Amino acid sequence: MLKTTGVSKALLAGTRATRPSLHMAKSAVRAFATAAPEAVVPPVRSSFGNLKDEDRIFTNIYGFHDYKLQGALKRGDWHKTKEILLKGHEWILNEMKESGLRGRGGAGFPSGLKWSFMNKPMDGRPRYLVVNADEGEPGTCKDREIMRGDPHKLIEGCLVAGRSMNANAAYIYIRGEFYNEASNLQVAIDEAYKAGLIGKNACGSGFDFDVYIHRGAGAYICGEETALIESIEGKAGKPRLKPPFPADVGLFGCPTTVANVETVAVAPTILRRGGKWFAGFGRPRNAGTKLFCISGHVNNPCTVEEEMSIPLKELIEKHCGGVKGGWDNLLGIIPGGSSVPVLPRHICDDVLMDFDALRDVQSGLGTAAVIVMDKSTDIVSAISRLAAFYRHESCGQCTPCREGTSWLANMMTRFESGQARPREIDMMDELSREIEGHTICALGDAAAWPVQGLVRHFRPELEARMAQFRQDAQVQV
Ligand SMILES: Cc1cc2nc3c(=O)[nH]c(=O)nc-3n(C[C@H](O)[C@H](O)[C@H](O)COP(=O)(O)O)c2cc1C
Ligand code: SF4
Repeated sequence: MLKTTGVSKALLAGTRATRPSLHMAKSAVRAFATAAPEAVVPPVRSSFGNLKDEDRIFTNIYGFHDYKLQGALKRGDWHKTKEILLKGHEWILNEMKESGLRGRGGAGFPSGLKWSFMNKPMDGRPRYLVVNADEGEPGTCKDREIMRGDPHKLIEGCLVAGRSMNANAAYIYIRGEFYNEASNLQVAIDEAYKAGLIGKNACGSGFDFDVYIHRGAGAYICGEETALIESIEGKAGKPRLKPPFPADVGLFGCPTTVANVETVAVAPTILRRGGKWFAGFGRPRNAGTKLFCISGHVNNPCTVEEEMSIPLKELIEKHCGGVKGGWDNLLGIIPGGSSVPVLPRHICDDVLMDFDALRDVQSGLGTAAVIVMDKSTDIVSAISRLAAFYRHESCGQCTPCREGTSWLANMMTRFESGQARPREIDMMDELSREIEGHTICALGDAAAWPVQGLVRHFRPELEARMAQFRQDAQVQV
Protein backbone atom coordinates (compact mmCIF):
# COMPACT_ATOMS: atom_id res chain seq x y z
CA MET A 1 0.00 0.00 0.00
CA LEU A 2 1.39 3.40 -0.93
CA LYS A 3 1.65 5.91 1.85
CA THR A 4 0.21 9.33 0.89
CA THR A 5 3.08 11.73 0.58
CA GLY A 6 2.82 15.46 1.16
CA VAL A 7 2.70 16.15 -2.61
CA SER A 8 0.13 13.50 -3.39
CA LYS A 9 -2.00 14.72 -0.48
CA ALA A 10 -1.90 18.16 -2.08
CA LEU A 11 -2.85 16.62 -5.43
CA LEU A 12 -5.70 14.66 -3.96
CA ALA A 13 -7.00 17.52 -1.89
CA GLY A 14 -6.47 20.21 -4.55
CA THR A 15 -9.46 22.50 -4.81
CA ARG A 16 -9.81 25.16 -7.53
CA ALA A 17 -8.06 27.71 -5.31
CA THR A 18 -5.25 25.41 -4.17
CA ARG A 19 -4.87 23.23 -7.26
CA PRO A 20 -1.15 23.04 -8.09
CA SER A 21 0.23 23.99 -11.46
CA LEU A 22 0.80 21.43 -14.20
CA HIS A 23 4.56 21.84 -13.62
CA MET A 24 4.21 20.88 -9.95
CA ALA A 25 2.00 17.93 -10.83
CA LYS A 26 4.56 16.70 -13.37
CA SER A 27 7.42 16.92 -10.89
CA ALA A 28 5.28 15.08 -8.34
CA VAL A 29 4.71 12.28 -10.83
CA ARG A 30 8.46 12.19 -11.51
CA ALA A 31 9.06 12.00 -7.78
CA PHE A 32 6.79 8.94 -7.65
CA ALA A 33 8.57 7.38 -10.58
CA THR A 34 12.07 7.80 -9.16
CA ALA A 35 11.31 7.14 -5.46
CA ALA A 36 12.50 3.82 -4.05
CA PRO A 37 9.57 1.39 -3.88
CA GLU A 38 8.04 1.46 -0.42
CA ALA A 39 7.68 -1.74 1.61
CA VAL A 40 4.36 -3.47 1.10
CA VAL A 41 2.56 -3.20 4.41
CA PRO A 42 -0.06 -5.90 4.80
CA PRO A 43 -3.43 -4.55 5.86
CA VAL A 44 -3.93 -4.64 9.62
CA ARG A 45 -6.18 -7.56 10.50
CA SER A 46 -9.22 -6.75 12.56
CA SER A 47 -10.95 -10.12 12.84
CA PHE A 48 -9.63 -13.34 14.32
CA GLY A 49 -10.91 -16.87 14.67
CA ASN A 50 -12.25 -19.42 12.19
CA LEU A 51 -9.06 -21.47 12.34
CA LYS A 52 -8.89 -23.80 9.36
CA ASP A 53 -8.31 -27.52 9.82
CA GLU A 54 -5.04 -27.41 7.89
CA ASP A 55 -3.71 -24.89 10.42
CA ARG A 56 -4.52 -27.01 13.47
CA ILE A 57 -1.42 -28.26 15.26
CA PHE A 58 -3.24 -30.76 17.47
CA THR A 59 -5.02 -33.20 15.21
CA ASN A 60 -5.84 -35.88 17.74
CA ILE A 61 -6.84 -34.13 20.96
CA TYR A 62 -10.22 -35.87 20.85
CA GLY A 63 -8.52 -39.26 20.62
CA PHE A 64 -10.40 -40.33 17.46
CA HIS A 65 -7.21 -41.66 15.87
CA ASP A 66 -4.26 -43.83 16.81
CA TYR A 67 -2.12 -42.11 19.44
CA LYS A 68 0.83 -44.44 18.84
CA LEU A 69 3.81 -43.96 16.53
CA GLN A 70 2.17 -45.20 13.32
CA GLY A 71 -0.74 -42.80 13.79
CA ALA A 72 1.59 -39.96 14.75
CA LEU A 73 3.71 -40.45 11.63
CA LYS A 74 0.57 -40.27 9.49
CA ARG A 75 -0.29 -36.98 11.13
CA GLY A 76 3.12 -35.54 10.23
CA ASP A 77 4.96 -35.91 13.53
CA TRP A 78 8.67 -36.73 13.39
CA HIS A 79 8.85 -35.33 9.85
CA LYS A 80 12.32 -33.89 9.10
CA THR A 81 13.18 -33.83 12.81
CA LYS A 82 16.77 -34.75 11.99
CA GLU A 83 17.10 -31.69 9.71
CA ILE A 84 15.71 -29.48 12.47
CA LEU A 85 18.22 -30.85 14.97
CA LEU A 86 21.10 -30.42 12.54
CA LYS A 87 20.25 -26.75 12.02
CA GLY A 88 21.48 -26.18 15.57
CA HIS A 89 20.35 -24.36 18.66
CA GLU A 90 20.73 -20.79 17.35
CA TRP A 91 18.44 -21.51 14.41
CA ILE A 92 15.82 -23.14 16.63
CA LEU A 93 15.92 -20.25 19.10
CA ASN A 94 15.58 -17.69 16.32
CA GLU A 95 12.57 -19.46 14.82
CA MET A 96 10.94 -19.71 18.23
CA LYS A 97 11.55 -16.02 18.85
CA GLU A 98 10.18 -15.14 15.42
CA SER A 99 7.05 -17.22 16.08
CA GLY A 100 6.12 -14.93 18.96
CA LEU A 101 5.07 -17.95 21.04
CA ARG A 102 4.33 -17.01 24.64
CA GLY A 103 4.35 -19.69 27.34
CA ARG A 104 1.09 -21.60 27.59
CA GLY A 105 1.51 -22.42 31.30
CA GLY A 106 -0.17 -19.22 32.48
CA ALA A 107 2.38 -16.42 32.73
CA GLY A 108 2.74 -15.86 28.97
CA PHE A 109 6.49 -15.19 28.98
CA PRO A 110 8.03 -15.23 25.45
CA SER A 111 9.25 -18.81 24.99
CA GLY A 112 12.12 -18.21 22.56
CA LEU A 113 13.61 -15.66 24.92
CA LYS A 114 13.13 -17.91 27.95
CA TRP A 115 14.74 -20.88 26.23
CA SER A 116 17.67 -18.68 25.18
CA PHE A 117 18.56 -18.07 28.84
CA MET A 118 20.09 -21.57 28.71
CA ASN A 119 22.32 -20.44 25.86
CA LYS A 120 25.47 -20.02 27.95
CA PRO A 121 28.92 -21.59 27.64
CA MET A 122 28.96 -25.16 28.91
CA ASP A 123 30.39 -25.34 32.46
CA GLY A 124 30.50 -29.10 32.87
CA ARG A 125 27.06 -29.40 34.44
CA PRO A 126 24.32 -31.26 32.56
CA ARG A 127 21.28 -29.24 31.46
CA TYR A 128 17.68 -30.24 31.77
CA LEU A 129 14.36 -29.50 30.19
CA VAL A 130 11.50 -30.02 32.61
CA VAL A 131 8.02 -30.29 31.15
CA ASN A 132 5.27 -29.09 33.41
CA ALA A 133 2.41 -31.58 33.03
CA ASP A 134 0.88 -30.91 36.43
CA GLU A 135 -2.14 -29.07 35.00
CA GLY A 136 -3.68 -28.26 38.35
CA GLU A 137 -5.36 -24.95 37.50
CA PRO A 138 -9.10 -25.46 38.00
CA GLY A 139 -10.92 -25.35 34.67
CA THR A 140 -7.87 -26.35 32.63
CA CYS A 141 -7.95 -29.55 30.59
CA LYS A 142 -5.67 -29.21 27.58
CA ASP A 143 -2.30 -30.73 28.50
CA ARG A 144 -3.93 -34.02 29.46
CA GLU A 145 -5.65 -34.14 26.04
CA ILE A 146 -2.29 -33.68 24.33
CA MET A 147 -0.67 -36.44 26.38
CA ARG A 148 -3.55 -38.87 25.83
CA GLY A 149 -4.12 -38.26 22.12
CA ASP A 150 -0.95 -36.69 20.74
CA PRO A 151 1.90 -37.87 23.01
CA HIS A 152 4.44 -38.02 20.17
CA LYS A 153 4.02 -34.27 19.62
CA LEU A 154 5.19 -33.73 23.17
CA ILE A 155 8.14 -36.12 22.91
CA GLU A 156 9.28 -34.62 19.63
CA GLY A 157 8.83 -31.20 21.25
CA CYS A 158 11.06 -32.27 24.14
CA LEU A 159 13.75 -33.27 21.67
CA VAL A 160 13.78 -30.02 19.67
CA ALA A 161 13.36 -27.81 22.76
CA GLY A 162 16.11 -29.80 24.47
CA ARG A 163 18.35 -29.28 21.43
CA SER A 164 17.76 -25.52 21.58
CA MET A 165 19.02 -25.53 25.18
CA ASN A 166 21.77 -28.10 24.67
CA ALA A 167 20.01 -30.20 27.29
CA ASN A 168 20.42 -33.94 27.02
CA ALA A 169 17.46 -35.00 29.11
CA ALA A 170 13.84 -34.05 29.68
CA TYR A 171 11.80 -34.82 32.76
CA ILE A 172 8.06 -34.75 32.23
CA TYR A 173 6.46 -34.04 35.60
CA ILE A 174 2.94 -35.39 35.33
CA ARG A 175 0.12 -35.10 37.84
CA GLY A 176 -0.32 -38.43 39.65
CA GLU A 177 -4.04 -38.68 38.87
CA PHE A 178 -3.34 -38.66 35.12
CA TYR A 179 -3.03 -42.43 34.89
CA ASN A 180 -4.12 -42.88 31.26
CA GLU A 181 -2.03 -39.93 30.15
CA ALA A 182 1.12 -41.23 31.87
CA SER A 183 0.46 -44.65 30.41
CA ASN A 184 0.02 -43.40 26.80
CA LEU A 185 3.03 -41.17 27.19
CA GLN A 186 5.19 -44.06 28.40
CA VAL A 187 4.06 -46.21 25.45
CA ALA A 188 5.02 -43.37 23.09
CA ILE A 189 8.40 -42.86 24.81
CA ASP A 190 9.18 -46.57 24.52
CA GLU A 191 8.22 -46.50 20.82
CA ALA A 192 10.40 -43.45 20.22
CA TYR A 193 13.41 -45.12 21.87
CA LYS A 194 12.83 -48.28 19.85
CA ALA A 195 12.62 -46.34 16.58
CA GLY A 196 15.83 -44.44 17.38
CA LEU A 197 13.96 -41.13 17.52
CA ILE A 198 15.25 -40.40 21.02
CA GLY A 199 18.09 -41.90 23.06
CA LYS A 200 21.65 -42.15 21.78
CA ASN A 201 22.09 -40.41 18.42
CA ALA A 202 18.46 -39.26 18.35
CA CYS A 203 17.02 -39.39 14.82
CA GLY A 204 20.56 -40.04 13.55
CA SER A 205 21.53 -36.45 14.37
CA GLY A 206 24.47 -37.23 16.64
CA PHE A 207 22.59 -35.60 19.55
CA ASP A 208 21.82 -37.77 22.60
CA PHE A 209 18.54 -37.20 24.36
CA ASP A 210 16.64 -39.05 27.09
CA VAL A 211 13.06 -38.55 28.21
CA TYR A 212 11.82 -39.56 31.68
CA ILE A 213 8.38 -39.40 33.23
CA HIS A 214 8.08 -38.37 36.87
CA ARG A 215 4.66 -38.84 38.41
CA GLY A 216 3.67 -36.31 41.05
CA ALA A 217 1.21 -36.76 43.89
CA GLY A 218 -1.31 -34.16 42.77
CA ALA A 219 -0.66 -30.94 44.70
CA TYR A 220 -1.56 -27.69 42.94
CA ILE A 221 1.56 -25.97 44.26
CA CYS A 222 3.76 -28.57 42.52
CA GLY A 223 2.78 -26.87 39.25
CA GLU A 224 4.83 -23.84 40.30
CA GLU A 225 8.15 -24.37 38.53
CA THR A 226 10.52 -24.34 41.50
CA ALA A 227 8.16 -26.39 43.71
CA LEU A 228 8.02 -28.85 40.83
CA ILE A 229 11.81 -29.05 40.76
CA GLU A 230 11.87 -29.67 44.53
CA SER A 231 9.27 -32.38 44.09
CA ILE A 232 11.31 -34.20 41.41
CA GLU A 233 14.28 -34.04 43.76
CA GLY A 234 12.18 -35.94 46.31
CA LYS A 235 11.41 -33.04 48.64
CA ALA A 236 8.14 -31.40 49.66
CA GLY A 237 6.80 -29.20 46.87
CA LYS A 238 7.64 -25.79 48.28
CA PRO A 239 8.62 -22.96 45.91
CA ARG A 240 12.18 -21.67 46.03
CA LEU A 241 13.15 -18.04 46.41
CA LYS A 242 14.42 -16.53 43.15
CA PRO A 243 17.16 -15.67 42.24
CA PRO A 244 18.87 -17.93 41.46
CA PHE A 245 16.55 -18.74 38.58
CA PRO A 246 16.27 -22.31 37.31
CA ALA A 247 18.26 -21.42 34.18
CA ASP A 248 21.24 -20.94 36.53
CA VAL A 249 20.47 -23.34 39.38
CA GLY A 250 17.57 -25.67 38.66
CA LEU A 251 17.03 -29.39 38.83
CA PHE A 252 19.79 -31.16 40.82
CA GLY A 253 21.61 -27.80 40.91
CA CYS A 254 21.94 -27.70 37.10
CA PRO A 255 20.69 -25.24 34.46
CA THR A 256 17.04 -26.02 33.82
CA THR A 257 14.08 -24.66 31.91
CA VAL A 258 10.56 -25.52 32.97
CA ALA A 259 8.02 -25.29 30.16
CA ASN A 260 4.37 -26.18 29.81
CA VAL A 261 3.20 -29.23 27.81
CA GLU A 262 1.39 -27.17 25.16
CA THR A 263 4.36 -24.80 24.76
CA VAL A 264 6.72 -27.70 24.11
CA ALA A 265 4.30 -29.68 21.95
CA VAL A 266 3.73 -26.83 19.45
CA ALA A 267 7.47 -26.35 18.87
CA PRO A 268 8.05 -29.04 16.19
CA THR A 269 5.20 -27.75 14.01
CA ILE A 270 6.47 -24.19 14.39
CA LEU A 271 9.94 -25.29 13.32
CA ARG A 272 8.59 -27.27 10.36
CA ARG A 273 6.22 -24.58 9.13
CA GLY A 274 8.32 -21.60 10.22
CA GLY A 275 8.11 -19.02 12.95
CA LYS A 276 6.49 -16.57 10.51
CA TRP A 277 3.63 -18.97 9.88
CA PHE A 278 2.80 -19.18 13.60
CA ALA A 279 3.24 -15.43 14.04
CA GLY A 280 0.58 -14.92 11.34
CA PHE A 281 -2.18 -15.91 13.76
CA GLY A 282 -3.58 -13.58 16.39
CA ARG A 283 -2.78 -9.95 17.11
CA PRO A 284 0.80 -8.70 17.37
CA ARG A 285 2.41 -9.86 20.67
CA ASN A 286 -0.33 -12.48 20.99
CA ALA A 287 0.67 -14.83 18.25
CA GLY A 288 -0.37 -18.31 17.36
CA THR A 289 -3.03 -20.90 17.71
CA LYS A 290 -4.13 -21.90 21.20
CA LEU A 291 -6.03 -24.62 23.00
CA PHE A 292 -9.03 -23.15 24.81
CA CYS A 293 -10.86 -25.23 27.45
CA ILE A 294 -14.45 -24.11 27.88
CA SER A 295 -16.50 -25.45 30.78
CA GLY A 296 -19.52 -24.51 32.87
CA HIS A 297 -22.89 -23.33 31.64
CA VAL A 298 -22.46 -23.88 27.91
CA ASN A 299 -24.34 -26.37 25.79
CA ASN A 300 -21.22 -28.22 24.65
CA PRO A 301 -18.20 -27.88 26.94
CA CYS A 302 -15.03 -28.63 25.00
CA THR A 303 -11.34 -28.14 24.45
CA VAL A 304 -10.69 -26.61 21.05
CA GLU A 305 -7.74 -25.20 19.14
CA GLU A 306 -8.48 -21.75 17.78
CA GLU A 307 -6.67 -18.66 16.64
CA MET A 308 -5.46 -16.38 19.40
CA SER A 309 -7.45 -13.15 19.72
CA ILE A 310 -10.73 -14.81 18.75
CA PRO A 311 -13.61 -12.89 20.39
CA LEU A 312 -14.76 -14.65 23.57
CA LYS A 313 -18.38 -14.58 22.45
CA GLU A 314 -17.53 -16.18 19.10
CA LEU A 315 -15.48 -18.88 20.82
CA ILE A 316 -18.46 -19.86 22.93
CA GLU A 317 -21.13 -19.55 20.25
CA LYS A 318 -19.16 -21.36 17.57
CA HIS A 319 -17.61 -24.23 19.49
CA CYS A 320 -19.80 -24.70 22.54
CA GLY A 321 -23.29 -24.20 21.15
CA GLY A 322 -23.64 -20.99 23.15
CA VAL A 323 -24.44 -20.23 26.78
CA LYS A 324 -27.25 -22.31 28.29
CA GLY A 325 -30.43 -20.27 27.88
CA GLY A 326 -28.74 -17.90 25.41
CA TRP A 327 -26.14 -15.14 25.67
CA ASP A 328 -28.56 -12.92 27.59
CA ASN A 329 -28.60 -15.53 30.34
CA LEU A 330 -24.85 -15.01 30.94
CA LEU A 331 -23.78 -13.75 34.34
CA GLY A 332 -20.00 -13.76 34.01
CA ILE A 333 -16.95 -15.61 32.77
CA ILE A 334 -13.60 -16.47 34.30
CA PRO A 335 -11.53 -16.39 31.09
CA GLY A 336 -8.19 -17.96 32.07
CA GLY A 337 -8.52 -20.54 34.82
CA SER A 338 -9.55 -20.01 38.45
CA SER A 339 -6.69 -17.61 39.22
CA VAL A 340 -7.84 -14.74 37.03
CA PRO A 341 -10.55 -12.20 37.87
CA VAL A 342 -14.11 -12.85 36.70
CA LEU A 343 -15.58 -10.66 33.95
CA PRO A 344 -19.20 -9.50 33.93
CA ARG A 345 -21.33 -9.98 30.84
CA HIS A 346 -20.94 -6.50 29.37
CA ILE A 347 -17.16 -7.01 29.08
CA CYS A 348 -17.60 -10.54 27.71
CA ASP A 349 -19.71 -9.10 24.87
CA ASP A 350 -16.69 -7.99 22.88
CA VAL A 351 -13.44 -8.85 24.63
CA LEU A 352 -10.81 -10.74 22.62
CA MET A 353 -9.15 -13.88 23.92
CA ASP A 354 -5.51 -12.93 24.16
CA PHE A 355 -2.95 -11.87 26.74
CA ASP A 356 -3.14 -8.13 26.12
CA ALA A 357 -6.89 -7.74 25.60
CA LEU A 358 -7.69 -9.60 28.82
CA ARG A 359 -5.02 -7.70 30.76
CA ASP A 360 -6.58 -4.46 29.53
CA VAL A 361 -9.89 -5.44 31.15
CA GLN A 362 -8.10 -6.33 34.41
CA SER A 363 -8.25 -10.08 33.95
CA GLY A 364 -5.89 -12.49 32.19
CA LEU A 365 -5.56 -15.25 29.60
CA GLY A 366 -3.84 -17.52 32.15
CA THR A 367 -4.24 -21.08 30.92
CA ALA A 368 -7.14 -20.14 28.59
CA ALA A 369 -9.56 -22.15 30.71
CA VAL A 370 -12.87 -20.39 30.16
CA ILE A 371 -15.36 -20.97 33.00
CA VAL A 372 -18.83 -19.82 31.97
CA MET A 373 -21.45 -18.96 34.59
CA ASP A 374 -25.07 -18.29 33.72
CA LYS A 375 -27.56 -16.36 35.84
CA SER A 376 -28.38 -19.43 37.93
CA THR A 377 -24.88 -19.15 39.49
CA ASP A 378 -24.42 -17.95 43.02
CA ILE A 379 -21.33 -15.89 42.18
CA VAL A 380 -20.45 -15.20 45.83
CA SER A 381 -20.52 -18.90 46.59
CA ALA A 382 -18.48 -19.69 43.46
CA ILE A 383 -15.70 -17.27 44.40
CA SER A 384 -15.88 -18.45 48.02
CA ARG A 385 -15.22 -21.99 46.78
CA LEU A 386 -12.11 -20.75 44.98
CA ALA A 387 -10.93 -18.94 48.12
CA ALA A 388 -11.25 -22.24 50.01
CA PHE A 389 -9.22 -23.94 47.28
CA TYR A 390 -6.33 -21.49 47.60
CA ARG A 391 -6.37 -21.73 51.39
CA HIS A 392 -6.06 -25.50 51.04
CA GLU A 393 -3.28 -25.33 48.44
CA SER A 394 -1.06 -22.70 50.10
CA CYS A 395 2.23 -24.34 51.06
CA GLY A 396 2.44 -22.08 54.12
CA GLN A 397 5.96 -20.69 53.63
CA CYS A 398 5.00 -17.01 53.38
CA THR A 399 2.96 -15.29 56.05
CA PRO A 400 0.83 -13.13 53.69
CA CYS A 401 -0.25 -16.22 51.76
CA ARG A 402 -0.59 -18.64 54.67
CA GLU A 403 -2.58 -16.23 56.86
CA GLY A 404 -4.15 -14.17 54.09
CA THR A 405 -5.70 -17.08 52.20
CA SER A 406 -7.34 -18.24 55.46
CA TRP A 407 -8.70 -14.78 56.16
CA LEU A 408 -10.02 -14.45 52.62
CA ALA A 409 -11.71 -17.83 52.81
CA ASN A 410 -13.27 -17.05 56.20
CA MET A 411 -14.57 -13.66 55.02
CA MET A 412 -15.95 -15.17 51.83
CA THR A 413 -17.82 -17.81 53.85
CA ARG A 414 -19.55 -15.05 55.81
CA PHE A 415 -20.19 -13.04 52.65
CA GLU A 416 -21.97 -16.05 51.19
CA SER A 417 -24.70 -15.81 53.80
CA GLY A 418 -24.49 -12.00 53.95
CA GLN A 419 -23.33 -12.09 57.56
CA ALA A 420 -20.98 -9.12 57.26
CA ARG A 421 -20.89 -5.31 57.15
CA PRO A 422 -20.58 -3.44 53.82
CA ARG A 423 -17.31 -1.82 54.98
CA GLU A 424 -15.79 -5.31 55.10
CA ILE A 425 -15.96 -5.46 51.33
CA ASP A 426 -13.22 -2.84 51.10
CA MET A 427 -11.37 -4.51 53.96
CA MET A 428 -11.33 -7.76 52.02
CA ASP A 429 -10.14 -5.99 48.89
CA GLU A 430 -7.36 -4.31 50.90
CA LEU A 431 -6.38 -7.61 52.43
CA SER A 432 -6.10 -9.20 48.99
CA ARG A 433 -3.73 -6.40 47.98
CA GLU A 434 -1.53 -7.11 50.99
CA ILE A 435 -1.13 -10.66 49.68
CA GLU A 436 -0.69 -9.80 46.00
CA GLY A 437 2.95 -9.28 45.08
CA HIS A 438 4.20 -9.95 48.62
CA THR A 439 4.90 -13.67 48.42
CA ILE A 440 7.53 -16.10 47.14
CA CYS A 441 5.38 -17.50 44.36
CA ALA A 442 2.36 -16.46 42.35
CA LEU A 443 -0.10 -18.56 44.35
CA GLY A 444 -0.58 -15.49 46.52
CA ASP A 445 -1.63 -13.44 43.48
CA ALA A 446 -3.82 -16.30 42.29
CA ALA A 447 -5.68 -16.25 45.62
CA ALA A 448 -6.07 -12.47 45.57
CA TRP A 449 -7.38 -11.95 42.04
CA PRO A 450 -10.69 -13.86 42.15
CA VAL A 451 -11.93 -11.88 45.16
CA GLN A 452 -10.74 -8.64 43.58
CA GLY A 453 -12.78 -9.46 40.47
CA LEU A 454 -15.82 -10.15 42.64
CA VAL A 455 -15.53 -6.83 44.47
CA ARG A 456 -14.86 -4.92 41.24
CA HIS A 457 -17.85 -6.25 39.35
CA PHE A 458 -20.34 -7.71 41.82
CA ARG A 459 -20.27 -5.33 44.79
CA PRO A 460 -24.04 -4.64 44.56
CA GLU A 461 -24.65 -8.39 44.89
CA LEU A 462 -22.52 -8.52 48.04
CA GLU A 463 -24.26 -5.46 49.53
CA ALA A 464 -27.72 -6.76 48.71
CA ARG A 465 -26.93 -10.03 50.45
CA MET A 466 -25.74 -8.23 53.57
CA ALA A 467 -28.87 -6.03 53.59
CA GLN A 468 -31.06 -9.12 53.24
CA PHE A 469 -29.26 -10.84 56.11
CA ARG A 470 -29.80 -7.83 58.38
CA GLN A 471 -33.45 -7.62 57.39
CA ASP A 472 -34.02 -11.33 58.12
CA ALA A 473 -32.26 -10.99 61.48
CA GLN A 474 -34.50 -8.05 62.44
CA VAL A 475 -37.61 -9.98 61.47
CA GLN A 476 -36.52 -12.83 63.74
CA VAL A 477 -35.91 -10.44 66.67
C1 LIG B 1 0.64 -22.13 42.02
C2 LIG B 1 1.08 -22.30 40.62
C3 LIG B 1 0.68 -23.42 39.89
C4 LIG B 1 1.10 -23.60 38.58
N1 LIG B 1 0.67 -24.70 37.89
C5 LIG B 1 1.11 -24.89 36.63
C6 LIG B 1 0.72 -26.06 35.91
O1 LIG B 1 -0.02 -26.91 36.41
N2 LIG B 1 1.18 -26.21 34.64
C7 LIG B 1 2.02 -25.28 34.06
O2 LIG B 1 2.44 -25.46 32.93
N3 LIG B 1 2.38 -24.17 34.71
C8 LIG B 1 1.96 -23.96 35.98
N4 LIG B 1 2.38 -22.85 36.65
C9 LIG B 1 3.31 -21.91 35.98
C10 LIG B 1 4.74 -22.43 36.10
O3 LIG B 1 5.31 -21.93 37.29
C11 LIG B 1 5.62 -21.98 34.94
O4 LIG B 1 5.49 -20.60 34.79
C12 LIG B 1 5.25 -22.63 33.62
O5 LIG B 1 5.26 -24.02 33.73
C13 LIG B 1 6.24 -22.19 32.57
O6 LIG B 1 5.92 -22.75 31.33
P1 LIG B 1 5.70 -21.85 30.02
O7 LIG B 1 6.86 -20.92 29.94
O8 LIG B 1 5.66 -22.83 28.93
O9 LIG B 1 4.40 -21.14 30.23
C14 LIG B 1 1.95 -22.64 37.97
C15 LIG B 1 2.34 -21.51 38.70
C16 LIG B 1 1.90 -21.34 39.99
C17 LIG B 1 2.34 -20.13 40.74
S1 SF4 C 1 2.88 -17.76 48.01
FE1 SF4 C 1 1.84 -19.33 49.18
S2 SF4 C 1 2.15 -21.18 48.02
FE2 SF4 C 1 3.66 -19.70 47.26
S3 SF4 C 1 5.48 -20.05 48.49
FE3 SF4 C 1 4.32 -18.52 49.57
S4 SF4 C 1 3.04 -19.67 51.02
FE4 SF4 C 1 3.81 -21.10 49.51
